[in-house]
Order: sequence, then structure tokens, then C-alpha cells
Amino acid sequence: MSDGTLPDQDENGGERLEHRWAVLATSIIVLLIAMAVFAGVHQAVLPQSRVETADPRTLHLGGEFIESNLGSALQPDGSVVVRAVGQQYSFTPQCILVPTDTPITFRVTSADVVHGFLITGTSINLMLVPGYISSIPARFSTPGERHMPCHEFCGFGHEGMWGRIKVIDKAEFARLAADTGRLNCVAQ
Ligand code: CUA
Repeated sequence: MSDGTLPDQDENGGERLEHRWAVLATSIIVLLIAMAVFAGVHQAVLPQSRVETADPRTLHLGGEFIESNLGSALQPDGSVVVRAVGQQYSFTPQCILVPTDTPITFRVTSADVVHGFLITGTSINLMLVPGYISSIPARFSTPGERHMPCHEFCGFGHEGMWGRIKVIDKAEFARLAADTGRLNCVAQ
């Protein structure tokens, strides 16, 4: 409580403060290292939950992306699955047929290099990576025709690589699907 003790207290206080900052700075560094390690380990041990693969060398020989299985298929639950393949420099099928007001799942892969799958006027935008299946849910409310340009540079023919997608009335689609297993609009 006397005047004599004040300078000592100040000096001790300064040291304590410096110590506290040192501890704080070290803690932040340790925390950042721990976060980086955790993020790295987490990503390594828990890869994406749904990675689907398709061997680009054997797509035409069998399995989900064999040519006879491409196009739009009406499912027992009323939804539609569209399967397509991108390759230098076209899409198969060249014209995709889908119904209005129906949950649709696009499943697309590449047979050679990286391509882009984009439907104009929608948020549908996929990258087609050989070896992997790209999947996206969709729903179209109005009938009409849209373009489907490849948007990843894939070689000299990239500019000419594009397809069409035609949205038709749900009832009309169901009628066509009753006759044929896999639908497309290539001939239309
Ligand atoms: Cu395929 Cu660009």
C-alpha cells in the first residue's frame, strides 16, 4: 500500500502481460497447426461419400452406359433417369427428351477427356470426368427446347460439341415411354 511498492508491481505486471501474449501467440499457432492436421486427416480418411466410377475404356461393352441403355428411362416410381455419354466431339444421345413436372436424375460420364455438361437457362452444370459418373437432380416446369453445349475445352472440335434437350408434356412422355424403354429425340 506504500509508494515504494508501485514500481515493482508495474514491472511484474509488464512481465506477466508479456508472458500472457507469448502463451496466446503460441496457442494460436498450435491451434492453426491442429486445424490443418485435422482437416488433412479428415479428408484423407473420409473421402466423398458418393463417388461413382465407370471405366471409360469399357463403356461401350457393357454396364450402365452401354449404348442401348442411354437416353431417358421412366422409373416405376414415376421419376426419370437420363443417362448420357460425352466424347470428342458429341453427346450420346445428341438430343435428350424429358417430361415436365417430373423429378429427373441426370447420370453422365465421359468416354475420353474432360467435357462439360450444361443446360442453358438452368442451373444444371456438370463436369464430365472420365472414370467418374456425374449426377444431378433436375425438374423442368415448362415444355420447350434448350441447348446443351460442352463448356470445357476438350480439343479442336470443342466448339462444335453440343446437344439439345427437349422438354415435353408429362402425359406425352408417359405415352412414348410405354412403347419404348429408352427415349431420346435424336430423330425429331
Ligand atoms: Cu467436349 Cu468441349
